[in-house]
Amino acid sequence: MQEWYEKIKNSTSQKELEDIRVAVFGKKGILAAEFAKMKSLPNEEKASFAKELNTHKEALMQLLTQKKEEISLKELESAMKEEALDVSLYSFKSNTGAFHPVMDTLDRIVEYFTALNFSLQTGSMVEDDFHNFEALNLPKYHPARDMQDTFYFKDEMLLRTHTSPVQIRTMTKQKPPIRMIAPGAVFRRDYDLTHTPMFHQVEGLLVDEKGKVSFANLKYILEDFLKYMFGDVNVRFRPSFFPFTEPSAEVDISCVFCKGDGCRVCSHTGWLEVLGCGIVDPNVFKAVGYKNVSGYAFGLGVERFAMLIHRIGDLRSLFEGDIRLLEQFA
Ligand code: PHE
Repeated sequence: MQEWYEKIKNSTSQKELEDIRVAVFGKKGILAAEFAKMKSLPNEEKASFAKELNTHKEALMQLLTQKKEEISLKELESAMKEEALDVSLYSFKSNTGAFHPVMDTLDRIVEYFTALNFSLQTGSMVEDDFHNFEALNLPKYHPARDMQDTFYFKDEMLLRTHTSPVQIRTMTKQKPPIRMIAPGAVFRRDYDLTHTPMFHQVEGLLVDEKGKVSFANLKYILEDFLKYMFGDVNVRFRPSFFPFTEPSAEVDISCVFCKGDGCRVCSHTGWLEVLGCGIVDPNVFKAVGYKNVSGYAFGLGVERFAMLIHRIGDLRSLFEGDIRLLEQFA
């Protein structure tokens, strides 16, 4: 009998205990076998034999129950240790998305002008010849059309080359004064380091009574805007030509790479061209039936801004869909 006490004490799992229980208390267990021996004993020994067996039976049962509890407590403890969930740990960073640098830059541009009460106007990417060219003082066969070659459909329809047609459509719909910007995708037959066939523009237009809008107003707002976008840069206006503005100017900022000292990006001039602008040509107002008004207009390429802000070397990489480019902005 004694060995069973040891076995119970030394057991380490519920399974082991259960095997012992069957071996001791089972129908074919050792207790049953011992009790069976009683039959062959002389009568006077039977009582003490049974008493001794019963004492073992109870003691073994008690030890077994005790051990059982002990083991299940240990098992619970180790399970709790193993499966512990430390809620004080930081969670892992999940994959977060990011705005495409072009959209991010566009948002900032829109933010600046809407804060100054410029309204947001949009139009169709497929335009007709009148709104994209003719009404903007770009008659058919005018050589300036060469600057903006695009993709043509039937019936004088085309992919718009700038968002200026939105300005024409807004002016034919609304009476002056006008204060608007037109952001959106535009299309041209270009493909190199700094040009893609599709890109985004924001064009602005302000129209008020004749004599109320001057080049000085235009200069002020564009200088302020460019400092908002690029920080502490110098701004200069260079005379230029656009069919829809007179006078026209191209606007440069001091190179954001070399701070004006001259480098490869600015072709050693210290300046980067960033937008076009001017005083609206009277022929444009004539085309939309506006009289006794004056106004200024400007236009810029969003990708060019994004490239300069984020120091992106090849504009085409913005549209290659390489996730590694976008991950840098997450
Ligand atoms: N529409 C011109 C372009 O796409 C930009 C511009 C707008 C220039 C308004 C001057 C005034 O090139």
